[in-house]
Amino acid sequence: MRAAVVTSFGAADVLHEAQVDPPVPGRGQTLVEVRAAGLNPAELIARSGGFGLPAPAIIGFEFAGTVAAIGDDVTGVEVGARIAGWPDSFSQGSYAEFTLSSNYTTIPDGVTFEDAAATVIGADNAARGLALLRPSPGETIVITGASGALGGAAVQFARLQGLTVIGICGRSSLEYVEGLGATAVEYGDHLADRVRAVALGSIDAALDTAGKGLVSTLIDLRGGAGRVVTLADPAAAARGVTFSAGHPRNRDSRPVREALERIAAGEWRTRIGRTFPLHQAAEAHRTLEAGHTGGKLLLIP
Ligand SMILES: NC(=O)c1ccc[n+]([C@@H]2O[C@H](COP(=O)([O-])OP(=O)(O)OC[C@H]3O[C@@H](n4cnc5c(N)ncnc54)[C@H](OP(=O)(O)O)[C@@H]3O)[C@@H](O)[C@H]2O)c1
Repeated sequence: MRAAVVTSFGAADVLHEAQVDPPVPGRGQTLVEVRAAGLNPAELIARSGGFGLPAPAIIGFEFAGTVAAIGDDVTGVEVGARIAGWPDSFSQGSYAEFTLSSNYTTIPDGVTFEDAAATVIGADNAARGLALLRPSPGETIVITGASGALGGAAVQFARLQGLTVIGICGRSSLEYVEGLGATAVEYGDHLADRVRAVALGSIDAALDTAGKGLVSTLIDLRGGAGRVVTLADPAAAARGVTFSAGHPRNRDSRPVREALERIAAGEWRTRIGRTFPLHQAAEAHRTLEAGHTGGKLLLIP
């Protein structure tokens, strides 16, 4: 099969297309023919060597595709089913024609592989982060990174839970974030004052999906670290803020399935910035590194 392989870790150029043997599904695993792989900031770290993966590695932490074969004891899906989820291994990932997975959900009719791949990690992490804040209907929440994959999902889940949402994003994303049902505020100087100016009452909770040093502003807005959660700033834990990392043991396909069903019903928006063929994986990583992608970047094997 073709794959974007990392044989030595480093800058984006280490990603190169190569022919490798396809993986073989073990017990409980499906062999997935990848139709779209979402790109994630964590994959930049993995490619640079920050995850300590063994080389050669095929990275790519989310996928949408079809079931090509199933191992022993797989139930609930058949060959040909359309599924979206997480590869089982960080080094046998989705930047390839095939990957292995035992954690996925089926893709409803009418949802594209691109939209499905763009939804997995965003919806899972957003739902977990939001749940940690224990929000109640009628409360007001501030969400940073509201135009991103995690933040866009968080805004939509929060609205569905009856929250008033103030979404922080870049200028070119303001209209998009308003379209998700939030009051959009541009990040930049005097952010806390500008958020207070649009808040109708108290700010009851805050979710950081951007990092970028915005946790300080969220602590200021909340008057302390209580009910401030970050998905993007591990260092903020030292200030009493809850940091929550996604990992193989806490992945939850249910919010992914909910988002996909809502996409099928025309009730949920994903934003695709750009798609790249597999042989342009290095270019895709450079684009992600530059930031402000205008939506999810995808590799199409
Ligand atoms: N906890 C976990 O397990 C977990 C899982 C996945 C991701 N993450 C982390 O979550 C973060 C978001 O990931 P993602 O995939 O959603 O990224 P993304 O789609 O690229 O979104 C990034 C967001 O950050 C905003 N942003 C960019 N520069 C900013 C700045 N200087 N100040 C304020 N906001 C800025 C962007 O706004 P504009 O584009 O509108 O400028 C956008 O809303 C990353 O740090 C990622 O590593 C954590």
